[in-house]
Amino acid sequence: MQIAIDGPASAGKSTVAKRVTQKLGFIYCDTGAMYRAATVLAKEHHLAYGDEAGILAVLEKSKISFKPAHPGEDQPVFLNQEDVTLAIRTPEITNNVSQVSALPKIREELVRQQREIASGHDIVMDGRDIGTTVLPAAELKIFLVASAAERARRRYAENITKGIMTPLDQLQTEIEQRDYKDSHRQVSPLTKADDAVEIDTTSLTIAEVVEKIVTLAKKRKK
Ligand code: DC
Repeated sequence: MQIAIDGPASAGKSTVAKRVTQKLGFIYCDTGAMYRAATVLAKEHHLAYGDEAGILAVLEKSKISFKPAHPGEDQPVFLNQEDVTLAIRTPEITNNVSQVSALPKIREELVRQQREIASGHDIVMDGRDIGTTVLPAAELKIFLVASAAERARRRYAENITKGIMTPLDQLQTEIEQRDYKDSHRQVSPLTKADDAVEIDTTSLTIAEVVEKIVTLAKKRKK
C-alpha cells in the first residue's frame, strides 16, 4: 500500500508520516530531504543554486539514501557515505532549497529515484507532489494544511531544540515566501490531488492527525 502525504512547509507532514509509518509497519521516505540533499550537493560543489546542468551532473553521480526513521527524530539521510541529516536542515539550505527544487531536470531525476524507492513496498512518502505526480496511484492521499502562524510556531519550537535561534516573525515570513514559491513554480507546483483527503492540523494534536490517517489507511486496505 502507498500513502502519499503532501502539504506546505511545516504543516506537520514528517512528524505525522513517521508515526503513521511506525503504527502501520511501513517504510518512510521524506522527499523534501532529497531536495535538501541536492541543495547540499550544490553548496559542496560551489555551484549556483540555479545551475541546473551542474547540479544534475553531480546528482547523477551521487547516491541519496535513508535509514529507518524514529519518531521525534529526523530521518537519517546519507549523501554518498556522508551523514547529512543535520547539514540539510541549516538555514542556508532551507532558504535555498526552493530554488533547487524548481529546476525541472532535478525534479525529474529525484522523482525517478522516489518511484524506485517506493516500488514494491508498503510506504508512506511525504512531500509536495507525491499524490499528484510521484505516486498518482497511491491508495491513500492526504493533504495536510495549517495556518502560517501555527506553522511558524511549530518550526520555532523545533529549531530551539536544534539550537537554531531564528525569530518567530522571520520564520513566518520565510514560510509564507516558501509557500508562494512552492505553489507558483512551473513544474509540479504544490497542489492538492483531486482524490486527496484534506486535514487542517491547526487545532489538532499530532496524535489526532495520526489516528485519522491510520483509520483511513485501514479502511482503504480492506
Ligand atoms: O518539506 P521540506 O521543507 O523538507 O521540503 C524542502 C523543499 O523541497 C521545499 O521548498 C519544497 C521542496 N519539495 C518539493 O518541491 N517536492 C517535494 N516532493 C518535497 C519537497
